Amino acid sequence: MCGIVGYVGSAEAAPILLEGLRRLEYRGYDSAGVATLEEGIVSVRKEVGRIDDLRKAIAINPIGGSTGISHTRWATHGKVTRENAHPHFDRSGKLALVHNGVIENYASLRAQLEEEGHQFHSQTDTEVLAHLVGRAFDRCSERTPGALVSALREALGQVAGTYGIAIVHADLPGVLIGARRGSPLVLGIGKGEHFLASDVSAIVGYTRDVVYLNDYEIAVLSDEGFTLSTVQGNGADYSVTKVDMTEEDVGKGDYPHYMLKEIHEQVRSVTDAMRGRLSHEEATAKLGGLNMSNAELRTIERIVLSGCGTAFHAAMVGEYLIESLAQIPTECEYASEFRYRNLPMTKDTLVFVLSQSGETADTLAALRESKRKGHRTLGICNNVASTIARESDGGVYMHAGPEIGVAATKSFTSQVTILTLIALLLGRIRNLSSSAGTRIITELEALPAQIEKVLQLEPEIAKIAKRYAHSKVMLFMGRQFNYPVAMEGALKLKEISYIAAMGYPSAELKHGVIALVNPETPSVVIAPHDAVFHKNLSNIEEVKARGGPVIAIGTEGKGKELSLVCDDVILIPDAPEILTPILTSIVLQIFAYHIAVELGCDVDKPRNLAKSVTVE
Ligand code: AGP
Repeated sequence: MCGIVGYVGSAEAAPILLEGLRRLEYRGYDSAGVATLEEGIVSVRKEVGRIDDLRKAIAINPIGGSTGISHTRWATHGKVTRENAHPHFDRSGKLALVHNGVIENYASLRAQLEEEGHQFHSQTDTEVLAHLVGRAFDRCSERTPGALVSALREALGQVAGTYGIAIVHADLPGVLIGARRGSPLVLGIGKGEHFLASDVSAIVGYTRDVVYLNDYEIAVLSDEGFTLSTVQGNGADYSVTKVDMTEEDVGKGDYPHYMLKEIHEQVRSVTDAMRGRLSHEEATAKLGGLNMSNAELRTIERIVLSGCGTAFHAAMVGEYLIESLAQIPTECEYASEFRYRNLPMTKDTLVFVLSQSGETADTLAALRESKRKGHRTLGICNNVASTIARESDGGVYMHAGPEIGVAATKSFTSQVTILTLIALLLGRIRNLSSSAGTRIITELEALPAQIEKVLQLEPEIAKIAKRYAHSKVMLFMGRQFNYPVAMEGALKLKEISYIAAMGYPSAELKHGVIALVNPETPSVVIAPHDAVFHKNLSNIEEVKARGGPVIAIGTEGKGKELSLVCDDVILIPDAPEILTPILTSIVLQIFAYHIAVELGCDVDKPRNLAKSVTVE
């Protein structure tokens, strides 16, 4: 998704804006630009490609000034060209604007403006918005921040769609304006300087005191302070949040890629997902954030889990977990489908939405659709101040720390861990015995050490990965709790290596998938020594009988049968069936990572992808 950084203070703006964009690189983008205001002139530099290209352009042709805005663009309207890169200007060339979101009615607005003689230099919806605001401001006799805010209100009242925007104007030195509806925008509070950003990672090096704008809010910032109001013209209260992220969190440390760092953070992130939430005394999980009493939870007769991408795959594991431990009918729905389906849900249906970023447009829409129908809707999010976290009726925070790599890794295992806690809690207020609860808690507490052992398999997994790195197609299979892991392993591989990877329930092999089996197409079969192990073994033999290479993930000490049949075997520590997805998924994260590295792919910023899909 697009990234926005704004600055107003006493320092040179350009270096701060560029550094902020660099920290937003993980969001995915295809072009970038900066505009700064100095001595009544707004100067702009834009480049297609990487932020380093933009940095070089500015080094050759510097832009000064201590007020400015910047942007990384992830193209929605218009091709990837310098003309379409942000910032965009109004007709006067004095107003510069950057935007994250989609103006749905931009075409009709553009036609109306063109009839009035406005000329456009790009194909973007953003340039139309800049002209709308500039036109309204140019009709004002005053040249004050208040007049620009009034003009902005008038313009925003005409647009349909979503926006997170930042604006500077040549007639208003030392003024930075921001507004949001649907696309996140955070205000950073410094000493003699203030910031705007799409997310805190862009500014955490300068301040950890932030205000998260709500939808329909407008902020006016100067070096000395800021004011908040609403698009409707009312005042807006706000609270200052101390961000618990540090610069070290946002850095790569000694790792070559954020993805590898985050894979190796999973001992801590899974531990943190459970921290303070396990009660030995009551042999259950304690999740106060659900904001529901046990009596209320007992009335729940059905659960819907919804999310996108990796979050959806975690939801798939959650379906097995909750039905297994709590015997509550549970289904998972792609958020992008849920929001348009008219899913029959009775009043005792509880909805969970899962989202690492807490800003995914489809998941946010699913949340709002569920609440619109009167259902209690809980969030499982990593970003505590995200829109989904704030609009949920409660939920469980992942506490996984920032996940910068576009490919989700620790967020998956954190979400699955939390879903295990939810299943344990729901089971223990229904039919799950105290001894069963104690056993599950003991097994959960053993998990971090088992994750550590899986991480130590990295060299072995890397060697196997390199052997298959040049495959064009790869099949992933698993059963029961590990069927979702087959889906997730396939997604991991496809999104960072661009190999056509597909995930299936193992038994689907006979229903068409086997047509794809050939000596050049490896199959990855997740076959821990569980209740369906021998069923998986049969599937492996079916693949081998047709000459297909097989990489199996089995259980330490119980891998002999696999070694006799498979081309490669990776053995995870022995763990209860319900917890194997956390271990097997880490193997597949490492596997995908090393294939992508072997292929020379951009692991942290894969082509066409964004970390948080805040547009439909
Ligand atoms: C997975 O590796 C991708 N990054 C993507 O599928 C992601 O899981 C999806 O966009 C959902 O993101 P969210 O958890 O932030 O809502």
